[in-house]
Amino acid sequence: MKIAIGSDHAAFPLKSILVAHLREKGFEEILDMGTDTDSLPCDYPDIALKVGEMVAQRKADRGVLLCGTGVGMSIAANKMPGVYAAHCHDVETASMSRRHNNSNVLTLGARILSPETAVEILDVWLSTEFEGDRHSRRLSKIADYEQKICPSCCLSDKGKTVIFDHPLVQHKVSIIRDKNTSVKEFRELVQEIAGLMVYEITRNLPLVKIQVETPLALTDAYALEGKKLAIVPVLRAGLGMVDGILQLVPNAKVGHIGLYRDPETLMPVEYYCKLPGDISERDILILDPMLATGGSASAAISLVKARGGKKVSLVCIIAAPEGVSKVHGDHPDVDIFAAALDSHLNDHGYIVPGLGDAGDRLFGTK
Ligand code: PRP
Ligand code: URA
Repeated sequence: MKIAIGSDHAAFPLKSILVAHLREKGFEEILDMGTDTDSLPCDYPDIALKVGEMVAQRKADRGVLLCGTGVGMSIAANKMPGVYAAHCHDVETASMSRRHNNSNVLTLGARILSPETAVEILDVWLSTEFEGDRHSRRLSKIADYEQKICPSCCLSDKGKTVIFDHPLVQHKVSIIRDKNTSVKEFRELVQEIAGLMVYEITRNLPLVKIQVETPLALTDAYALEGKKLAIVPVLRAGLGMVDGILQLVPNAKVGHIGLYRDPETLMPVEYYCKLPGDISERDILILDPMLATGGSASAAISLVKARGGKKVSLVCIIAAPEGVSKVHGDHPDVDIFAAALDSHLNDHGYIVPGLGDAGDRLFGTK
């Protein structure tokens, strides 16, 4: 088990005791996120958010946070979607916070607890399992809320479907649905919607601290760590989303998959596939405005995986429930990001209400 631990200056001595205790008990992967001394004051939110991030991003299995009372650490860590920080004064609360609440961060007060009690609480908390059952239902209500307020913050082992209900996205989707919208406007709006969606999808891209010299001073700043992205439009209609995304992430590599849907069988037919050589090292966004039966999207994902793609997400504008089920059924690890989830498919496999044939509307070929 990987444990991220942090404290402010007031709890630094307790942190040293707990780290030594964990090492003695055989926990080898302990990530000490600071602070490094008790002689300089530090701000508890800085440490709480570092540890919280490690847990929320699954870089650590559990987190432990210590400050004078433990309260500030718990307040700050619980701001982070995916963090369930339990502030515990006794063994019973620590045990219940695991059994019923599946807490993944423990906060303790160094000025409230003796080191012996803190060690006891920590041991119980680390060794107690979540009971699941009715408690899973309750926790999923919290997770649903987190997903609503921050769709891309929530990591999960299973593929999720995220519908972007941002007003700007919804407004633009209404215009592209309108049969009277011109090809020019349709094309522009598809780019804009794709850009807005990817702006949100990339919210958790890792940053590194850099130094920048402004005309006035040298200052700390942040730059993208350089996580490798690839976008893969499904031809034709997926091409309409590419430029809107490249404007935001100009260094993303672009692959192409050619698929069309046989009008009789509705089955996808492959006619082209060219992907970046290092696709296995990239986070991959497959682009297609329409997810109807899901046949094309599922085939595109299979093609990318067959060529080594590991972390794949699907970005579409309008999805049908049938397509969502198909993609999650065939590829349970893939997240689906959509701007709208429509009602159903008609007898010809078109999304209702949808927007008609996306390729034709983008390229004026009707
Ligand atoms: C459309 C759309 C998807 C597919 C969706 O492409 O862009 O790729 O249909 O349908 P499905 O979920 O039932 O597979 P189309 O086959 O019309 O090709 P085009 O983009 O070249 O027009
Ligand atoms: N492809 C489209 O372009 N539109 C649909 O509604 C379904 C498949």
